[in-house]
Amino acid sequence: MTAWINLSVNGQPTEVEVDPMRRLADVLRDDLGLTGTKIGCNAGDCGACTVRIDGRQACACLVPIAQAAGTDVRTVEGLAPVAEPAGFADLASLQRAFLEAGAAQCGICTPGMLMAADDLLERLPSPTEAEIHDGLGGVLCRCTGYRKIVEAVQAAAAGPLSAAGPLSAVVAGPGPLPKPGEGSVHAVGTRLPKVDGLELVTGTAAFGADPRPDGMLVVRAVRSPHARARFTIGDLGPLREKHPGLVLVLTAADIPGQNRYGIYATGKDQPALADGEVRHRGEAILGLVGEEAAIEAITDDELPITWEPLPPHLRIDEALAVDAHQLHGHAPANVLISGRVARGDVDAVRADGGLITAEVDVETTFVEHAYIEPEAGHARRVGDRIELFVSTQTPYMDRDETALILGLRPDQVRIIPSAVGGGFGGKLDLSVHPLIATAAWLTGRPVRAVWTRPESMAASPKRHPARIHASASATPDGALVSFRFHGDFDTGAYASWGPTVANRVPVHATGPYEVLNVLATTRAIHTNNPPAGAFRGFGVPQAAIAHEALMDDLAARLGIDSLEFRHRNAIHAGSRTATSQLIRASAGLRGCLEALRPQWAGLRRDALDFNAVAAMQRRPLRRGVGIGAMWYGIGNTSMTNPSTIELGLDREAVLTLYSGAVDIGQGASTVMVQIAADALGVPPAAMRLVSGDTDRTADAGKSSASRQTFVSGNAARLAGEDLRRQLLRLAEVEDAAADLATLEFAAGRAIVTESGRPSVAIDLAELPAVRATDPGATPVLLGHGTYDPKTTPLDSDGQGDPYETYAFGAQLALVEVDTELGTVKVLRIVAAHDVGRAINPTQVEGQIHGGIAQGLGLALMEAYVPGRTENLHDYLIPTVGDIPEIECLLIEDAEPSGPYGAKGVGEPALVPTAPAILGGIHDATGARITTLPATPDRVLAAIHALAPALP
Ligand code: FES
Repeated sequence: MTAWINLSVNGQPTEVEVDPMRRLADVLRDDLGLTGTKIGCNAGDCGACTVRIDGRQACACLVPIAQAAGTDVRTVEGLAPVAEPAGFADLASLQRAFLEAGAAQCGICTPGMLMAADDLLERLPSPTEAEIHDGLGGVLCRCTGYRKIVEAVQAAAAGPLSAAGPLSAVVAGPGPLPKPGEGSVHAVGTRLPKVDGLELVTGTAAFGADPRPDGMLVVRAVRSPHARARFTIGDLGPLREKHPGLVLVLTAADIPGQNRYGIYATGKDQPALADGEVRHRGEAILGLVGEEAAIEAITDDELPITWEPLPPHLRIDEALAVDAHQLHGHAPANVLISGRVARGDVDAVRADGGLITAEVDVETTFVEHAYIEPEAGHARRVGDRIELFVSTQTPYMDRDETALILGLRPDQVRIIPSAVGGGFGGKLDLSVHPLIATAAWLTGRPVRAVWTRPESMAASPKRHPARIHASASATPDGALVSFRFHGDFDTGAYASWGPTVANRVPVHATGPYEVLNVLATTRAIHTNNPPAGAFRGFGVPQAAIAHEALMDDLAARLGIDSLEFRHRNAIHAGSRTATSQLIRASAGLRGCLEALRPQWAGLRRDALDFNAVAAMQRRPLRRGVGIGAMWYGIGNTSMTNPSTIELGLDREAVLTLYSGAVDIGQGASTVMVQIAADALGVPPAAMRLVSGDTDRTADAGKSSASRQTFVSGNAARLAGEDLRRQLLRLAEVEDAAADLATLEFAAGRAIVTESGRPSVAIDLAELPAVRATDPGATPVLLGHGTYDPKTTPLDSDGQGDPYETYAFGAQLALVEVDTELGTVKVLRIVAAHDVGRAINPTQVEGQIHGGIAQGLGLALMEAYVPGRTENLHDYLIPTVGDIPEIECLLIEDAEPSGPYGAKGVGEPALVPTAPAILGGIHDATGARITTLPATPDRVLAAIHALAPALP
């Protein structure tokens, strides 16, 4: 039943004929094409769909359209003063503030945040920070750590921003050509707003669920309610008869190619559709393909599926038991893979005696990525090729995996990355790809899929639960001399990135410390849990909880200040790591610790003062300060991981950067433009960007392992330098003068000016076209850059050079514990990170803020339980009110092989946060929490276990 509904949308009288119970969010997006309103959960938990109804913010997913009849609805599309903003000057002051502050990373939450902030500022033009927290509290952001969003709202409240803002220097398409002399302007090191920022703050960026191709079908996966079961599928005829819009029911038998995929060539164990047996809850067994309304109408109890539940292994112990069933033939005793690093002799040095030894057991749980954009995309068949528009961190790997599933050559598959609404490692695995591709291939029609929030949480990979035992020994004068570590990681039902975790963790197990005797081992264990895969840090955050607890314990036993103990043992230039790699340069941990010293002393003094007063007043609050330190190898472990980037110059003198480094919110596109611009010697505004499309860009690898700034950044630098070299050669510039020559581009000419000589104009129309990766491009000059980090394989003892460079960092956390309730409030974080060189300080700070927010969640609240916490009200992630003050200290210990000295910061930012917070709880109460998250019940139990009890 439909009805005509009248309302005003962004000031326009609007009439729609729809089901009156249809959600306002769906009507806005599907019927009115206003896809700036995003849907993250359809349950009112995430706030991505926040709009203003008669002025007040509301979740459009919770409002039936009938309820909006007669109201005035405002969406992000109505925020700017002009209908189609083309630049900074066309934006509302609030949107400009978001851009300038770096408040939009992936941008999926941005429209909702903007509308909530718009509502707030209209009600309270000069809000306090607490009022901002209240005003934005209904909208979740998983990327930014909220600090820059708060700053943006404060900036907008302070007054209208100048229309001539920095965005005028940035273009996402053909833009203004540089003026003479601008080629010498350095982009590296500047706070350039994101090159895709305009789309993010106007809601025009196309995320995976935004396009609805004409003539499309949809596919919905039917998933297992059991962790382990056999199943049979009965007669589908009656279902088809009842639902004529059901076009196809995909089973395992319908997969055209190989019904197995996975990250590693030897680890392809995950079926696109399970074949008679499921190994985890949420595994897909059928794909219902058809018209959208028909597929939505099919209920689970109509499906002719017979289940035979079997006893699952849900814990590591169960999977390792001698009588355990084996999940896979290639993983004897359910051990997928083991990792090992051995140097020196831990036992011998301990047997010599005279050492102080500390031990710790750590247990962590599944952590969900909880990106605000659930997995989504569509596929279309184009002749004998298939094109996928999907939310992904790794288009080239997606291309190859999809080709295997369809039985095609890789060049028959094109991946066009959508805007990515958060990834954090979770979009390194296939998601909607197998079913949309198969369905589009078989039907010849475009096929779309959008996972629901519970589906996303049930079916996507997680952070590995870890069970760690570790010990460390030091001499009485505080020299760390031995370290032993074993970690078992629950890798779930399929391999995913389990091997990466098992191999990366032993390398990092000691933490950023020089230790001569090390034995670090790991195992990735299969269970009947969801696959555990890549999540910001690949197991290193779990290991850091262990090594940092040991450092605190050793320092306390030795009577050495905890920061000082870390400083004494810190890896530095000239150190050898546990893999015997010589660190030649850029090891800035000591610089980070030095930078933190004043705050370390000041915060601890303040905490002691506070505690003295609280004790006197018999209040149950205690404050403490913790410290966490980290290191992180940039890029893949001991394997080739090259990036290639091209920079083309066409006859019209337009420069185009072809970058396959997918921007997942971390700012890779902006960083590549900044680096390439400096390498060529032009302003960033001179450059168009083509990003991610596997038909148009070369392979720049995956956006993970904190590798894009270092690896692809080097490729962008080389591409810029290569094109500059070609231009200078054409202008016959002497090598000695090359550095000072300037470049200009105008009216089909490249003008090269060398000091003291007349300019040389190169007529680009005279040059023959050259071949670029993009078949549609006709550059006449093409700069090419390929970079592959220098690593060596590790031997059987894990000895070798697994990474070319490492990031270092340390954080302080001031926490307040309520010793009666067990609650923990993080009041302040000071983060010092050695990033080599901050290509874009705003984005580096944004990564640090976001990493801290996720580290805080890991420490205090996040626990994914299959079947129980599969939505964003039972699974808690930090809200704006949970985030403390954060101070960032950027330490630039330049990496000689990095692009302009840069390394990476995406994952490093998260690693030390949980150890610092747990250290703060220990400092405040004496209770050391080693089973995460540190929920109030655990904190309280640990406090009560202490004797005598605190007053
Ligand atoms: Fe907020 Fe990504 S920027 S969720």
